[in-house]
Parts: sequence; structure tokens; C-alpha cells
Amino acid sequence: MKTDLPQTVRLADYEPPAFSVDAVDLTFDLEPQRTVVTAVLQLRRTGGAPGGPLVLDGENLDLLEVLVNGKKLSPPAYETSEDALTVFDPPEALTLETRVAINPKANTRLEGLYVSNTMFCTQCEAEGFRRITYFPDRPDVMATYRVTLRGDKAAYPVMLSNGNNVSNTDLGGGRHEAVWEDPFPKPSYLFALVAGDLAMVEDRFKTQSGRDVTLRIFVEHGNEDRCDYAMDSLIRSMRWDEERFGLEYDLDIFNIVAVSDFNMGAMENKSLNVFNAKYILADASTATDADFANIESIVAHEYFHNWTGNRVTCRDWFQLSLKEGLTVFRDQEFSSDQRSRPVKRIQDVRALRARQFPEDSGPLSHPVRPDAYIEINNFYTATVYEKGAEVIGMMQTLLGQDGFNDGLRLYFERHDGQAVTCDDFVAAMADANGKDLSHFKRWYSQSGTPEVTVTSAYDAGKKAYTLTLEQMTRPTPGQSEKQPLHIPLRIGLLGANGGDLDLVSDSGALDGGLVHLTEERQTVTFTNIPDRPVLSVNRGFGAPIALNTDQTDADLAFLMAHDSDPFARWEAGQQYATRLMKAAVTAMASGEAGDPKGQDAFVAAVKNILEDNSLDPAFKALAITLPTEEFVGEQLPVVHVDEIHAVRAALRRKIGADLQAEFRAAMAANEVREPFAPTAEQAGRRALRNAALAYLTADYGPEAAKLAKESFDRADNMTDTIAALSILTEVDGPERSAALEAFETRWKDNAQVMDKWFALQAVASRPDTLSHVKALTKHPCFDIRNPNKVRSLVGAFAMANPVRFHAKDGSGYTFLADSVIELDSLNPQVAARMLGTLGSWRRYDADRQALMRSALERIVAVPVLSKDSYEIASKSL
Ligand code: ARG
Ligand code: ZN
Repeated sequence: MKTDLPQTVRLADYEPPAFSVDAVDLTFDLEPQRTVVTAVLQLRRTGGAPGGPLVLDGENLDLLEVLVNGKKLSPPAYETSEDALTVFDPPEALTLETRVAINPKANTRLEGLYVSNTMFCTQCEAEGFRRITYFPDRPDVMATYRVTLRGDKAAYPVMLSNGNNVSNTDLGGGRHEAVWEDPFPKPSYLFALVAGDLAMVEDRFKTQSGRDVTLRIFVEHGNEDRCDYAMDSLIRSMRWDEERFGLEYDLDIFNIVAVSDFNMGAMENKSLNVFNAKYILADASTATDADFANIESIVAHEYFHNWTGNRVTCRDWFQLSLKEGLTVFRDQEFSSDQRSRPVKRIQDVRALRARQFPEDSGPLSHPVRPDAYIEINNFYTATVYEKGAEVIGMMQTLLGQDGFNDGLRLYFERHDGQAVTCDDFVAAMADANGKDLSHFKRWYSQSGTPEVTVTSAYDAGKKAYTLTLEQMTRPTPGQSEKQPLHIPLRIGLLGANGGDLDLVSDSGALDGGLVHLTEERQTVTFTNIPDRPVLSVNRGFGAPIALNTDQTDADLAFLMAHDSDPFARWEAGQQYATRLMKAAVTAMASGEAGDPKGQDAFVAAVKNILEDNSLDPAFKALAITLPTEEFVGEQLPVVHVDEIHAVRAALRRKIGADLQAEFRAAMAANEVREPFAPTAEQAGRRALRNAALAYLTADYGPEAAKLAKESFDRADNMTDTIAALSILTEVDGPERSAALEAFETRWKDNAQVMDKWFALQAVASRPDTLSHVKALTKHPCFDIRNPNKVRSLVGAFAMANPVRFHAKDGSGYTFLADSVIELDSLNPQVAARMLGTLGSWRRYDADRQALMRSALERIVAVPVLSKDSYEIASKSL
């Protein structure tokens, strides 16, 4: 907690460390309320002013002792402050020994060493290690670690840290000791320890060069039989990384621990990944298909970090995307190969648009490589992660898969064991391919979503088709002037029969089906085009841009039916639906009648999709799902919350009513009768079946309640249960409470499943939702100290229920501000995440603007506010 104004940290001020640490020897005497940490550091001056002091980071530490080269120091030879230990006149090389006491049990921030249920665990990224011991807590200080853990044998039979377990000793008196050594030098943020009474599941993996690796997943007792899918995902990830990139695991042991209280998804600590239990535990009765897919991708993500993050790490936290963007790209590729590539792409683009686009157009917009921060934890963002992954993906597009692989090989050749920058990564890519990527690199430093406008002209006499492409990026905080970016656009031209025409052009910008838009304005002329074609542009969503085109409704319907690029086929439907909804919202907001007739052609296009036997069910489910209310809102000058909600609901009712027979047929055809399996194939059928059910029940009337309740009662897996329950939470009538109660009775002892129950009630669009949410904060299963619970209830309400969160009377904002203020004193990282939604206040009408601003002002005015919440709230205003 800071009472003085928080400091901004700038990339431009980067200085190499004054002292490096070669080796660390840590000893933990583990007690929940008083753990004593002894640290012996081998330090060596590597920079800074000659003779300058040795400054180590440290927060919330009770310093017991300091020794230099075995000699005890006392002030003024050293000095401590709120966040540092300073040793004056240090030798050029020294052994520094410190002993500190910490209170893990009181650590509600869940950064550093803390207690979750009864187990000890750690989260050190980004700057948690300084809450464990005094240390130069920055990623460019890499050391080898030897860790001794001592604790009660009965309470902590399992004691883990990074690397290899080199000894275990009974200490007598009911205590024991375990020693771990990690041979790979690593930054402090990758340190981890776990101690507890845990169950374990074990498997093995043989690497391509023949190394036998023991794989272990540790969970709380009773969860052993819910680890199979995570273990299988791990094994598939290890194999995939060898096959795709030739990257092999480098130790004999790989451990994963599932923890109930965790601020984020998971953490890639060297050989000891710590996970939010939500992303490990699964079986048919407790996990949805989406949960299984998340487990697969997050297990892979953390495993992939062993090379992209651990073996090569970040020089400083501004380079976070060096490891995160690259590793997200890798996990997306993995999931695409394991499942359906087009379906994965659509899901990723949906997520990018839902989270990254709004971030990039709001007050918290920042580049993939930010140049300033107050609290680094606030920069684990969709921009650094997902837009970062898009930037990597564009490099692969520019270099080809072989060229990209060559670049990656050179990157590891040059930088294995180092802490490097995004520039180093791009240089390896460029050098391996003999390409100049300096223009492309602007994607790292320029924030904002580029808007590309494409206009077309057909010259029937010359049989020539000309595209004019223009790019523009709006100003973002701190960047009023924008430069053109290098935007690779995959293009197709469809002929009258729906097939792709050959692309012939003398324009240098065209390279295969790829147009390189590098300037503000370019034209490309295609020759030999018999008739005016239908344009398909940014196929595969190869560039993370917003697009304006002159496509007609008929063009979009044509693309929905024929585009050879599945992403573009889906996208055409989204654009078409968005266009209809925007028009209806605008009409409604100005008191005019809409044009429901215009919607019939769209419904016909949806019918086509449903009946197209060449499409797989997972794709169909996505293609018939309308863009979210949030997405429609972003396309409008002012977010008309209530009108958007009404229009989207009405369009869903219309589609449901017009295509009753088709949806019934789709439900019947996609009923899964085999035993549940978490495969993409079954998941696709369930998705389509449940999307059809949702359309059939879109009016939430008595018939809908009956149909949904029937489905709820019949469900034998969590996916179908949740699909039915999400409809039932919207209906009025006895089915709603009957289903909610049945679910609660069955699952009240399973915290992870109860999270779903909280979330469903929080996102219900019914007018009484906020009062339910408030009542649920008093539910015995709710706990404000558990991040998953907060995200399920408060987070879901504020981030996934636009019509109720933005209630005209401001009640949603007041509830959020109250929750954030309460949470900030316990867990600033989670509090700061919750309040991000208020940052979009400029997008709403004047009344809502005022209410959202005053909620933000109330947060900023809290006398003792964390850096985390202060940064988000103050930048939002
Ligand atoms: N490196 C982790 C991952 O993406 C995330 C850690 C986030 N920690 C934080 N304090 N923000 O795999
Ligand atoms: Zn990551």
C-alpha cells in the first residue's frame, strides 16, 4: 500500500543491474504465520556507479539478520525502507546472508508465499519474490537456486521446489526437510515452492532424444481422478513441441500443482508449474467442453514457456510480450492442430475482439511493448498476450512457416540462457530470413487498432478490378501521431459460382493471395476478371484490424454461403448481423420503426448454414451465434445499452421462431448418444445442439421453460447442464428455482462447480439480477478472498452482463465500486482487474458517463489505495 503518489517506471530508464547474483541458497522454516527465510546470495558487481551501494528489493519482510562474507552487519552499514534493503560500501564480490520472517497466512494478496486452504504455495511473477526475501527482483538477474524446505511432516508431507529433489531428511520431532536444486539459472519470478498434504497422479514421457521424464500432478485429496485430461494434455504438448519446433524438455521431472486460490490462470515456474485448480481438474460431470479446451491450452501454454520464457526470458517487464505473445501464439497453434483450426481461429478472434479491441480503443490502450507502467501486474493484458500473439502470427505469415521456424532456431541459438528484448526476437527472425522487419516492428510500439477501409471498382471494359486500401489508426493516450503499419491482408475474389478466381496483378503489393499494405493508401488492380467479383478480405483474420468495406448485404450472404476460407465465411455472417442490429438500434434510439423485413434475407442465410452438410457442427454453432451486445455497442458512436439488448433479443426470437423446424432437426441430429468424451467432435455436436436449444427457447416463455427444464433434467454432462441452466436463469416460473436449487444441492461441496452457478445468475439479463448478486455475496460458498469466486460473481456481472451492469440508475456501478474498494485492501491485483470496465465511460450517454465517472472518482479517492487500482482508476478518468 502506498500513500504517496505511485511512481511511473519507464522503459527509457532501463539500466543493467548493478549487482548480479550467481547462486542463491534459500532455507524455509515453514510455519503458516511465521516462516523464516534464510537467503545466501553470491553477488558480483556488474554495473552501476563504482563503490555504489548494494540495493535489494524487499516488501513486507521482517528483517532479522544481515551478514556480509560471514560478518554480521548493523546500521548504519545497512538501511531498510518500505521496499528495499541497502548495504553500503559492499565488496565487489560478496556473500550476503539475510534472515527474514514473513506471515504467509496473512498474505491475502496471493503474491509471494501464501497459504491456500492448508497448503503453502507461491506466485512470484511479476514481483512477488521480493515479498519472500531481499533480492534484486528483476528478470535480468539470473541465478541457480538451491532450496531447503523444512516443515511439519504430517501437515506437509509433500514439499516441492524447482529442479531436482536432491535429498530428503527426517529431522525428528515430527519435522522433515527436502532439498531441491535447479541447475538452470533463472530469474526470481520463476522461483516456486509448494508444501502440503497433497495427492499425486503420475505418468511418464520419453523425449525424442530418449530422456525419461516423470510427470506429476499434485492436487488436494479427493481430486486424483479429475487429473486425466490435464495429464493427457501435458503429454500431447510435450510431443507437439518436439514435432513442430524441435523443442525438448530439459529435466527429468515436471511437476504441476493445482491450487484453489490463485490470482491468474497458471504460472510457468521452472519444472514446478502452479495452476489455478480450475484449469487442471475436470471430468464429464463437473467440466464443460469449454473447460476441457481451456485446460488443454493452458497446460500447453505453461509447458511451452519452458523454452519461450524460461530458457530465454525477458530483460525487463516491458518485454513481457516477448514470452507471452510468443507463448500464446504457440498454444494457439497447438490447439489448432489438436482440434479444428478454423474453429479455434474464430474463437480466438472473438476473444480478441471482446477483450483486446476495447482495451486498445480506451484510456488504458498501450502498445504490445508498453513504455511505462505504475504497476506491472496491470500489464498482463489482452494487448500484451493476444495482440502480441497476433503480431507473432503476422511474422509467420510474412516469413512462411519454414522461415519462421528458422528464425526461432536462430533466436534460441543466440539467446539460450539469456534475458532479452522484443528487438532481439525480431532481429533473429529478420536475420534468419535475410529480411528487413524494421517497418513491421512498429506493431510493437504503436498502440491502437488500425482501421482499414477497402473500396472497390470494377471496369467491365478492361475486365479489371481495383481495390483502394487505406489505413488509419486513431490517437491513443500518449500517441497522438500514428504511422502506417505493415498489414498483411489475405484476399480472395469470388466468381459467380462461388469459387475463387485466379489473382493476377502487376502490383508489387500482391504476393500470392497476400496484399502487403504498408502505406497509408495503396491500390491494387486485378486483371482478367470476367465479372464484378465478390470480395473476401483479411481472410483468416491474418491481421488484427478493424475493416470497413463496400460489401453489400447480398455480398455478405454470398460469402456466408461460399467463401472457401471458413473464417471469412463466419465473419461475413457476423458483419451481416452486426449491420442489421446497428440499423435497428439506431432506429430505435431515435424513435423510428426498424426494418424487420431486411432481416428475412439474413434468416435465410442462417438457414443455409444450418442445412449445409459440408460444414461441421462446431463451425455451424459459431456461425449461427449473433455477435455479442458488447461487440455491437463498439460499432456504434454511442452505446445504447437497452436498445442493443432489446434488438439482439428480438433478432434471436425472430430467428428462433422462423426456423423452429430446422432447430428441432439440428437438436435431434446432434444429440450425443455415446458415452461422454471431451473430444472436439463431440463438443461440436453439443455446441450446435445447445445453440439450437437456445434459439428454440429465445422467448423465455412457458414452453421454453419446459423445454429447457427437460433438457436440464436429462443432461448427463456439465456442458448440457450449463446450457440448459443458462436458459432457465432467464425464465420466470417454477422451473428456474427448481433447477437452481437442484444444482446447488448436488454441487455445494464442489467450489469449482459452484463458480458456474454463481456466474450464471450474475449474467442473467432479468431486472432482478443485481439483487440476486448482492444476496449471493452472503452465500456460504462465496468468499471474497477467493479470486475465482470474485470473478464468477462480481466479475461476471460487471464484464458479461451489459444490460444490468449499465442499469440507468447507476446501481451496477455503485455495486462494482463498493466491491472494488472492499477487495482492494485484500487483493489489489484482482480488484484492479474488476474495475477495468468502468474505463469505457466515454462510450455511453451523458447520464451513464456521469455515473461511471463518479464510481471511478470514488475509487481514486480511497485514502489507502493500492498502486494496482490507483493506476487503472486514475488512467480511466
Ligand atoms: N506468466 C503467467 C502466464 O501467462 C501469468 C502470470 C501472471 N502473474 C501476474 N502477477 N500478473 O502463463
Ligand atoms: Zn504465459
